[in-house]
Formats: sequence, C-alpha cells, structure tokens
Amino acid sequence: MTDTLTPVLTANWDQADAFRMDGYRRGGGYQAVPKALKMRPDDVIAAVKDSGLRGRGGAGFPTGVKWSFIPQGDGKPHYLTVNADESEPGTCKDIPLMMANPHSLIEGIIITCYAIRASHAFIYIRGEALHPIRRLQLAVAEAYEAGYLGKDILGSGFDLDVVVHAGAGAYICGEETALLTSLEGYRGLPRNRPPFPAVEGLYACPTVINNVESIASVPGIIRNGPGWFSGLGTEKSKGHGIFSLSGHVAHPGQFEAPLGITLRELIELAGGMRPGHRLKFWTPGGSSTPILTDEHLDIPLDFEGIGGAGSMLGTRALQIFDETTCVVRAALRWTEFYQHESCGKCTPCREGTYWLVRAVERLENGKGTDEDLETILDVSDNIVGRAFCALGDAAPVPITSAIKHFRDEVVQHQKEGGCPFDPAASVLWSDTTVADR
Ligand SMILES: Cc1cc2nc3c(=O)[nH]c(=O)nc-3n(C[C@H](O)[C@H](O)[C@H](O)COP(=O)(O)O)c2cc1C
Ligand code: SF4
Repeated sequence: MTDTLTPVLTANWDQADAFRMDGYRRGGGYQAVPKALKMRPDDVIAAVKDSGLRGRGGAGFPTGVKWSFIPQGDGKPHYLTVNADESEPGTCKDIPLMMANPHSLIEGIIITCYAIRASHAFIYIRGEALHPIRRLQLAVAEAYEAGYLGKDILGSGFDLDVVVHAGAGAYICGEETALLTSLEGYRGLPRNRPPFPAVEGLYACPTVINNVESIASVPGIIRNGPGWFSGLGTEKSKGHGIFSLSGHVAHPGQFEAPLGITLRELIELAGGMRPGHRLKFWTPGGSSTPILTDEHLDIPLDFEGIGGAGSMLGTRALQIFDETTCVVRAALRWTEFYQHESCGKCTPCREGTYWLVRAVERLENGKGTDEDLETILDVSDNIVGRAFCALGDAAPVPITSAIKHFRDEVVQHQKEGGCPFDPAASVLWSDTTVADR
C-alpha cells in the first residue's frame, strides 16, 4: 500500500464537529489570520507566489501572480469572488471541502482579502448544493461572532464582509466572467476579455476570482511557510491537492496527496478496480479533459505530466471506467451535457454541440453512416478555437479523445450497426434515475 497521502484540507474530515469553529481551531485553524495581519499585504502576496500555489479550479494559473495584478491605490473597491460553482461532471472536491471544512475557506478568504486590499468577498456556490450552503452560512456566522469577520478584525483595523451567494445552477456560471455577470444579477453569459477581471471585474472594479480549494490552501501556506508547501509536489506543480476518484473503483472518494502522485497509486489507495475488472479509460480532471487509458497509469498527476500525455490535469476528477464500458456511450452522455449547458451566446458552440450529439447518437444507436466519423471531427474542428469561451473548446473533447484512443471501437459501432456492449453490464451514473440512487 502506498503511503503518499498528505491530509491538510481533509485532515479533520472524520471528526464530527470538523465544520464548526471549535473543531477547526482544534486542528490549528485560525492561527494563520493573526500571522497574516501582522505582515504587509504585499508580503502575503509574495509568500503565496513563493509557495508555487497554482489555481485548483482547472487552469492552474499561479495564484499569487493573479493577486498581484490587482491595481493598488486606485481608489476603487476591490473584490474577492470565490468560485464554488463546481459543476464539471466528475468534479467532487469543493463541495465535500465546504461541507466538512468550511472554516478553511473562510480563513483563506480573510487572508486573501487582506492581501489584495478587499473589504468584500462573495462565495458563489451552486444553488442545488443546499447542505454546503447551510454549512457555509453557519461558518460565516461563527466567524463574525468570533471577530474574524466584520469591523476591525482582531484589532488590526482591517474590515471584511463575506456574502454566501447561491447561484441558480448552470455550468456556464462557473466560467469566471459568466459568474461575475450572474452575481451582478444578470443572465450568466461570459464576457469579453480584455478587460480582465483583475482590472474590471465585479461592478467594473478590480476582482480576484479563485477556486474554493485554491483559497482554502492559503492558511496552510501562511501558517507553515511557503517552503513547506513548495516542498510538496513536483518541480512546477507544487503542494497538495484533492484527487476525487469515482466510477469503477472499489472505494471511490477523495484522496489528498502531493501533485505528481500517479493514478496507479491512487487506484491502490481506492482499494483497486472493482473486483474482476480492469481499467479501460479515465479522465484526469473531469469531462473537459481528454480521456487517457491504461497506458497512462504511471504518468505523474501534475500539470506538466498530464499535459505531456495529451490531456489536462483540470480539477483532478478521476472518473474511472472499466472494460465493460462503451466509450461511445460515455462520450455521448458528456456531449449531451455540453449541448445542454451551452449558453447559446456563440454559434460554433450552440450549433456545433447540437450536431455533435446527433452524430454521436447515430453511432451509438446503430444508425451511423460512413461519413459520421468525419462529420464529428469536422464539427469539432469548427468549434475548437472558434467558440467564445472554454465551454465550447471542451465540448468536443470526450468524443475526439475517444476516437483518438479507441478508433476501432468507434468504427465497430458503425460497421456492426450498433453498440457492441451490453448496457446491463456497466451502468453509467448518468444512466441511472434518481430512484435508483
Ligand atoms: C464552463 C466552465 C465552468 C467552470 N467551472 C468552474 C467551477 O465550477 N469552479 C472553478 O473554480 N472554476 C471553474 N472554471 C474555471 C474558472 O473560469 C476560473 O478559471 C477559476 O475559477 C479560477 O480559479 P483558480 O485560479 O483558483 O483555479 C470553469 C470554467 C469554465 C469554462
Ligand atoms: S462557447 Fe458555448 S458556453 Fe461559451 S459563450 Fe459560446 S455558446 Fe456560450
């Protein structure tokens, strides 16, 4: 059994009161706030830069560098917006983190706002996530009561208010500019960049947008020092991260480990594949990241390693599929998701996702034609790089990566007039009904 777990954000998840102020403090919580408030804001930014922390929301942009883009002395209000929308299929780290350890996020928000000189922060959380919304509201109330939020925090002269905002539940509202538009009360559509949010974000003021896990990682960096954080992980992908394993493993769940751990090690930690089965394909970071196969079991799960293998680390949402799964059916479900979630603002994505679903559906249902494979690749080519936001770029990823790794299986659907897999042998989560669950 591998011994590479580094529980930091997940360290207290097994304790009954982990989500309460007392439970969090018992594990060293809120020690980083007084330490940060004694530092100069720019030194806090420098510490986060030195730690090497890169955004945990998918793109991996260096967090301290993002903070340093906020103009200073501009006389405008500054805002922090925490992206807690978590809607990518397979991604399941921020919601459990906010459920079990919401104070790590609140503590991270206090330190971040102090560093970027913001006195208002918003947590934009998806509206369906009722339970974590309540946990966050309770944590915010406890933090006000303890003097960590509100006026003159710990006598430092620094003021901060935090608002928990429940969205209406649309994947596009996780895209940072659509999130801002939605938070302002409009329909959540992405915005043009430039201007970037650091210059003109929420209410046209300088705004930092960071993922939940990025912000929750900040207290550990301040408490233990940037060197502690950068001592974990690999050369360019530093620190710890939550890896979520779902699908055909014996014990799905969240595993917090240094970046650079391999899928082989994680599957071992998850008790192996479900008995009697072997790995067929997997996503490294949710449905937007090209699928990989059993050839990639030993690739380091860091930004560079997974990039080098032709995919992306994304949100470390490892969806594991065994040999009973039809790759076309899985790709169809994901493609349907993108079609459904396309906001409709731009033509390549709005129309392209519609036609992609039709063509993949034909293949899966045994009505595919000789041209369908070429149509899929052609439509995909007309979306990627031409869509307004990254949702469009991601939409063809499931089917194009399925064709890349399993072309024979895709062609077999067309040649044999249907899916060669027994649907009863492998049940995809998306095929189940609420009653089944
Ligand atoms: C369609 C779409 C959905 C997204 N959903 C999320 C999300 O739920 N949570 C998140 O943190 N980032 C999401 N992102 C990425 C954000 O746009 C942004 O890069 C991220 O919040 C930045 O935070 P970080 O630098 O801390 O990673 C999404 C991007 C796209 C294109
Ligand atoms: S790419 Fe899709 S989701 Fe993004 S703006 Fe265009 S239509 Fe909307």
